[in-house]
Amino acid sequence: MSEPKDQGDGWHLVATTGEIEDDTPEQVRVGDAVIALCKVNGTFYAVDDICTHEFACLSDGDIDGDEIECPLHQARFHLPTGEVRAAPATENLRTYPVKVTGDEIYVKVSKS
Ligand code: FES
Repeated sequence: MSEPKDQGDGWHLVATTGEIEDDTPEQVRVGDAVIALCKVNGTFYAVDDICTHEFACLSDGDIDGDEIECPLHQARFHLPTGEVRAAPATENLRTYPVKVTGDEIYVKVSKS
């Protein structure tokens, strides 16, 4: 995975389309943000990689439909919205805007 490049407007180049397979989450980092980059039916989604329940990387979990399942206690989150879909997590995931330009995937991370 290539190093993210800051485009100066919050958009960061995090990967190329050939690096991300359908239903196989990949961890990417933008500054302090640890993100699970996911592809479902050709559409890319970016959500926080760290589960909101305890500490586990969702990029180690599975994608099922448009949901990602935590590998530790099997909480499920809706990838387009970050909404919790199954316990034990109760807090939604942060989501990030994604855009694809040519074969480059950009994720927008605003400084907080
Ligand atoms: S750490 Fe993800 S469900 Fe518990």
